[in-house]
Amino acid sequence: MMYKPQEHILVIFGGSGDLTRRKLIPALLALSGQDLLPDQFAVLGVGRTPYTDASYREMLAGHLQGGKDFLHSVFYLSMDPGKKEDYGILKTRLSEIAAARQTGINHIFYLATPPELYTSIPAFLADAGLTSREDGSWRRFILEKPFGTDYRSARDLNETLLRCLNEDQIYRIDHYLGKETVQNLLVTRFSNGIFEPLWNRNYVHHVQITSSERIGIETRGGYYDQAGALRDMLQNHLLQILGLIAMEPPTVISSDAIRNEILKVFQSFRPITGKAIKRQVIRGQYVGSRVQGETFKGYREEQDVPGDSRTETFVAMKMYIDNWRWGGIPFYIRTGKRLPTRVTEVVVHFKPTPHTLFCKWDQGVDNGNQLVIRIQPDEGILIQFGVKVQGAGFKVQDVKMDFHYKDLIDNKLPEAYQRLLLDCMQGDSTLFSRKDTVEAAWKFVDPILSAWDNDPSIPLHEYPVGTWGPDAAEQMIEGDVFTWRYPCRNRSDEGEYCAL
Ligand code: BG6
Repeated sequence: MMYKPQEHILVIFGGSGDLTRRKLIPALLALSGQDLLPDQFAVLGVGRTPYTDASYREMLAGHLQGGKDFLHSVFYLSMDPGKKEDYGILKTRLSEIAAARQTGINHIFYLATPPELYTSIPAFLADAGLTSREDGSWRRFILEKPFGTDYRSARDLNETLLRCLNEDQIYRIDHYLGKETVQNLLVTRFSNGIFEPLWNRNYVHHVQITSSERIGIETRGGYYDQAGALRDMLQNHLLQILGLIAMEPPTVISSDAIRNEILKVFQSFRPITGKAIKRQVIRGQYVGSRVQGETFKGYREEQDVPGDSRTETFVAMKMYIDNWRWGGIPFYIRTGKRLPTRVTEVVVHFKPTPHTLFCKWDQGVDNGNQLVIRIQPDEGILIQFGVKVQGAGFKVQDVKMDFHYKDLIDNKLPEAYQRLLLDCMQGDSTLFSRKDTVEAAWKFVDPILSAWDNDPSIPLHEYPVGTWGPDAAEQMIEGDVFTWRYPCRNRSDEGEYCAL
């Protein structure tokens, strides 16, 4: 909702880091440009780098276009967030800023730090008396991913946090939920009479979710090699998208009503265990190749990656949701680095007509009716259906009816972090992951992670940079007589950008 949040100070731990510079400060500047920040508001960046307020503002200004006025409300405190003794200085600094800027005692603490600090920062803040709420004021915590590395660590982290905080103070970020087009999944489904009647096992044949990236792991080898594609993208972003696709209609649009429905979907995932892992989950790792005249390194040659790493940079999975709506319908999900293009989309394939009256023009695979929801880039929705080919006979050709977001608005779609920061400021946790959902997602992927760690007979397939992943991922879906939808014109197309 478009109203200004209450006055507060936003404290960013990791204030000198990449995320703050690239995403958080630009998002705050955009909110300020739309007059959506409170009149009494300040940002306090916290980190070990020894900036002053002035040099911090100068560093941030170098990454922004404009924003001089906004930067007057940005401050910096150099402290070690891992040292309990430093929290006294933080408390004093917050009181000084609050007095100077009339920001009151509401605070958001944004933890853009390595996850090792997720338990100590809240505990040290609690000891310093900065987490308890008085007189209707609020203290909220935003935690970046990764939230745990498996079920047990996520559950332990939740337990530790809940010793000093309440669940309604915790905002676990999944930045995919902040994307306009991810939220549009809810609106498309539940504000249109035409889709909902078809949205079930009677009419849907299967669903595909693809999130491909052209980039590799850039300078994040240290983190990525411990994570891999399953933890980095599938356990969180892609399962959240699946939750929105598969959930039942909530009774109202409220944080708990929506998240309750997503949780039920997660609890209905059919576990993938034992022999099914080899059949239903394909992992891959990119190897060096030349694409369009350019040479790309393989994953094992990347910075901070061991030469014998077995971390997956691609994963494709076939899964089922065992409930009344989706019983028996396969969901195919894939994500990977160094694929031909950057695209995230959901494709709902509808069942064919019960009896074939007409023949296809091109005699190719009949992919039936498809609804493609493009999450990024070229955000929009496309419906594919058959029409008669002009002239004699009754031959059918597939055509596409498409809507592009860019035709609707002049500006670029807002960045996910704008929406998420504003929601947290307004106390709306709908687009953040709840404790039980995070744990349910880990519970689902845990058996796969441990089989990969412990069973050397499960292959790690290689795929050359610039391809759509290992052939085994094609075979998994083709065995069921479909193909993945290739967002580019055809499977071998290479290109930065593929239009819807
Ligand atoms: C992050 C992952 O959560 O999402 C990255 O850690 C990935 O590896 C990124 O590149 C993708 O986000 P987006 O918004 O660019 O699709």
